[in-house]
Amino acid sequence: MIGDKKVLFSGMQATGNLTLGNYLGALKNWVSLSDEYECFYSVVDMHSITIRQDPATLRKRARALLTLYIAAGLDPEKNCIYYQSHVSGHAELAWILNCFTYMGELNRMTQFKDKAAKHADNINAGLFTYPVLMAADILLYQADVVPVGIDQMQHLELTRDLAQRFNGIYGDVFTIPEAYIGKVGAKIMSLQDPSKKMSKSDENPNGSIYLMDDPDTIRRKCKRAVTDSLGEFRYSDEQPGLHNLIDIFCACTNRTPEDVVAEFSGSGYGQFKEAVGEAVVSVLDPLQKRVAELEKDKSYIDSVIKNNAEKANYYAQKTLRKVQKKVGFPEKIR
Ligand code: TYM
Repeated sequence: MIGDKKVLFSGMQATGNLTLGNYLGALKNWVSLSDEYECFYSVVDMHSITIRQDPATLRKRARALLTLYIAAGLDPEKNCIYYQSHVSGHAELAWILNCFTYMGELNRMTQFKDKAAKHADNINAGLFTYPVLMAADILLYQADVVPVGIDQMQHLELTRDLAQRFNGIYGDVFTIPEAYIGKVGAKIMSLQDPSKKMSKSDENPNGSIYLMDDPDTIRRKCKRAVTDSLGEFRYSDEQPGLHNLIDIFCACTNRTPEDVVAEFSGSGYGQFKEAVGEAVVSVLDPLQKRVAELEKDKSYIDSVIKNNAEKANYYAQKTLRKVQKKVGFPEKIR
């Protein structure tokens, strides 16, 4: 708790072009939860270097992502929006937690297996211990709730296990966090292959809608989305392409699948795809304009970066000092 509010933590990587999946699965929920909780939203640049990055591009993307958080509606006066690398406590706590994590636990992580297969020439130790850094992110702020898409659930389970293990040895040190998964949009699939998640690293650009795609590109990608030959308008797992489009439509318009099926049941897929395109444009177009507007105000963004890093450091240090004491590090002489 901070004051009378529970704590929320979440983060996003500034790697690749963000997709509609990142927005609907995470960022949109962050905004809707931001009044209720004391929130920490991090641009997790330390996680990004588990895959080789061009330094200038990473810096640029990290700033663009931080700006996007604000553009999406997160007020940096109320929400702590900051770069992970500006708070050394993340790395310090990650080291300690590494010493409480078993190799077998990390070996089971499906994201590690996927990424190791994709980057076979660079299976580094950071990629392997990535989930421990993620646990440190969350536990450092004593977060109660962590809004994420379904793909992050396994990492969150590990975080809970580590927190419980540590508390079991040393007493109540960490809050045990819960995942928050949105009702719709928690797993947006590729428009070209609805058995795969929509992903920044997809080789087929038509499978993903990028947050910075222009309106015509968005409409075209929706029009070309893979559906099926059944020709029935239902919200069913047997029609994964249509199911995904209904999820996207619902998440963009805040409507329910039942409602949407009732409205479009007499229509063809083509007509619905057009409606999906318009719904996505109506969400992303204002977002893009707001990003462009904010990017012009360099000193404002700089002040957000500075002030919020200080705030994050303050809370991070509180937890870190407690943990360091528990594990037996000598007290600093001040
Ligand atoms: P990242 O950067 O891959 O994704 C950011 C958020 O977007 C969600 N997401 C999706 N949701 C629905 N459909 C999709 N197709 C889709 N693709 C991505 C992800 O679930 C995530 O919530 N390891 C994390 C970043 C992280 C983090 C943390 C998150 C680091 N530390 C602590 C929460 C708490 C990651 O790589 O997310």
